[in-house]
Amino acid sequence: MFLKIKLFAFLVIAMLGLLSQSVYAQAKTSELRVEQKVDSLLALMTVEEKVGQMNLYNGFWNVTGPAPEHGGAAIKYKHLKNGWVGAMLNVRGTEEVNKVQRIAVEESRLGIPLLIGFDVIHGYKTLSPIPLAESASWDLEAIKASARIAAIEASSAGINWTFAPMVDVSRDARWGRVMEGAGEDPFLGSLIATARVNGFQGTNLSDANTIAACAKHFAGYGFAEAGKEYNTVDVGLSTLYNTILPPFKAAEEAGVKTFMNSFNDLNGVPVTASEFLQRDILKNGWDFNGFVVSDWASMNELISWGVAKDKKEAAKLAITAGSDMDMEGHVYIKALVDLINEGTVDIELLNDAVRRILRVKYELGLFDNPYKYGNKIDEEKRTSSQAHHESVLDMAKKSIVLLKNEGQLLPLKKKGQRIALIGDLANDKSSPLGSWRLASDEETAVSVLEGMQKYKSNTLSFSKGPVVFKGTSTFLKELDINTTDYTGFKEAVETAKNADVVVMVLGEHGFQSGEGRSRTNLQLPGLQQELLEKVYEVNQNIVLVLNNGRPLAITWAAEHIPTIVEAWQLGTETGNAVAQVLYGDYNPSGKLPMTFPRNVGQVPIYYNYKNTGRPIDKDNNVFYSHYSDVEKTPLFVFGHGLSYTEFEYSNLKVTNTYKTNKEVTVTFDLKNVGNRTGKEVAQLYIRDLVGSITRPIKELKGFKLVELKPGETEKITFVLSSKELGFYNNKQQFNVELGDFKIFIGGSSETVLEGDFILK
Ligand code: NOJ
Repeated sequence: MFLKIKLFAFLVIAMLGLLSQSVYAQAKTSELRVEQKVDSLLALMTVEEKVGQMNLYNGFWNVTGPAPEHGGAAIKYKHLKNGWVGAMLNVRGTEEVNKVQRIAVEESRLGIPLLIGFDVIHGYKTLSPIPLAESASWDLEAIKASARIAAIEASSAGINWTFAPMVDVSRDARWGRVMEGAGEDPFLGSLIATARVNGFQGTNLSDANTIAACAKHFAGYGFAEAGKEYNTVDVGLSTLYNTILPPFKAAEEAGVKTFMNSFNDLNGVPVTASEFLQRDILKNGWDFNGFVVSDWASMNELISWGVAKDKKEAAKLAITAGSDMDMEGHVYIKALVDLINEGTVDIELLNDAVRRILRVKYELGLFDNPYKYGNKIDEEKRTSSQAHHESVLDMAKKSIVLLKNEGQLLPLKKKGQRIALIGDLANDKSSPLGSWRLASDEETAVSVLEGMQKYKSNTLSFSKGPVVFKGTSTFLKELDINTTDYTGFKEAVETAKNADVVVMVLGEHGFQSGEGRSRTNLQLPGLQQELLEKVYEVNQNIVLVLNNGRPLAITWAAEHIPTIVEAWQLGTETGNAVAQVLYGDYNPSGKLPMTFPRNVGQVPIYYNYKNTGRPIDKDNNVFYSHYSDVEKTPLFVFGHGLSYTEFEYSNLKVTNTYKTNKEVTVTFDLKNVGNRTGKEVAQLYIRDLVGSITRPIKELKGFKLVELKPGETEKITFVLSSKELGFYNNKQQFNVELGDFKIFIGGSSETVLEGDFILK
């Protein structure tokens, strides 16, 4: 079957005359160093074939971007045969993948296998919670396991490369893609980036169930001005180095094989053309030896940005800047050969890009067996695995955040209760699948209604109220939010009247966040706020279950509704997870990875802000940093999340040993003072009181997820070293600056213990 590859490998070695026949045998078992293999292959390639490796085509059905001008299938098949395609995306399923792989391997001159990319963002077929929700678990092992499962399923369907994790830090809930990231904090975001990369790539990339990961979008995309999708980004180098880059650096250190650049410009340079980001920082600064893929047609977009007059100029800018692969832009394939032949682009730039791409292919083991990803039997077995369902259910429960529980409405009593379940989203089997769910079957989520129905000893009445949106919901089109049709409104209020507890499932549909879904209004969409208020008039025992892909400004609800549960979009097992938490079979422990604003005008709002020169009102006048019309504090702070039990923090000790490279040891006691077993995310923040540049008022630098029985205490220790204590100054040097520091400890960024130390 692999005759062609064998023959080819033999020719390479014979041609170069470098290696003996016995080494050839070793080469077959991947014992030759990857670099040698890459160089040998490169030596055989024509310029066209090199450019081909840098060409990534979309497949023939799923589209995850605007339709290309020259995307016809016939052209793509022809290019595959010519060896002018290095990778494809949105081709999935063993049969489909093997079809294109076979052309590349068996019909093209050199038989170089394809990378098969796909947006495996929160699961493949069995969907886990959206990444923002998973991040609320602060459970790195669970997040890694979730990525592992996604890789196991995707690889069985022929995928060997995922466009994840998205590691863009963002402070702007208007931006729809916050659903895909880990929230606002670089420290938490870095650890989650590492967990996800390790989950996807496993310990051996050449295993058939591990896939190459892609840290995206490099860089700055999460800081799009006004939260508007694809918008311009203008940030200072301090924010870039201290806030935006750390999760990318963490992904690189975890061995991520690829990076994707971003659609935005950064300080005037569209990122696809940014030599500063892709060469100076990533490739030369961090020694990254994988490759950079452009985002969908972002090379063409250099023309719209107004930095290139045509595709040729765009190709020149992109290759010079270090973009190695062109995703569905048809720019490299059209222009690079000419640019090389004319001598306008140095062939060494091309060689470097191709080397990077081939290296990843070798590391995946594609040259040993191009068909190892994708096996019909495995595909069926793995994508319908009960164990995967249990695992995503576990992840879903861990992702839920109890925002408020006054009057102890939760957990629900299991018997003798009349429960009214209200809301269109409660009976929705599609919305909980979230935004990135191309490979899952439609309507396959367990709805909240189905989850609640499993608890049979209460009386459950359901009323959906007005619809959240009209028409159909798809990945590609805008949702038509219902603001006029009140059908079902009265009936819902009636249903709520006589209930002991009203569970209202309100929020955003899964397709209201994600790519291309920025909002300027962060309230409950459509008629839902009105419905909430009307139900409240007849029954105040409301448990509000929020579905959303971003922080919402639910100020009225936070003031009036006694109990609020943040349930995001939790994937395939949503309803089971929500019901088990509401009924107390699972004690919630999630904590917000992003600040919830009081209103949209506060955005961007984040916990690690700068003090300003006028932080407080000293003289009872207006001249301090605040708003006139709303408090300056958030609605729910970063790191916030309650449990059905309570925790107490005490006994903080800070020991500064000065011995090993400025190490500081912090210990404290955490006690479960309630009457249920529960988990707490104990959080440590620092403040560098006087710096050469302004420092945030708090920075997360440690956390620990601890489970405690009632009455149980655990002594928790954190050791802080230069890595946690330092920062990038305005010369982009990472330094620990000596002087006074504060330590804060608590169960959220609103901490309860405070200590200090001096670095001398
Ligand atoms: C555009 C998105 O920005 C990116 O994240 C995604 O991976 C590609 N499309 C491919 O679908």
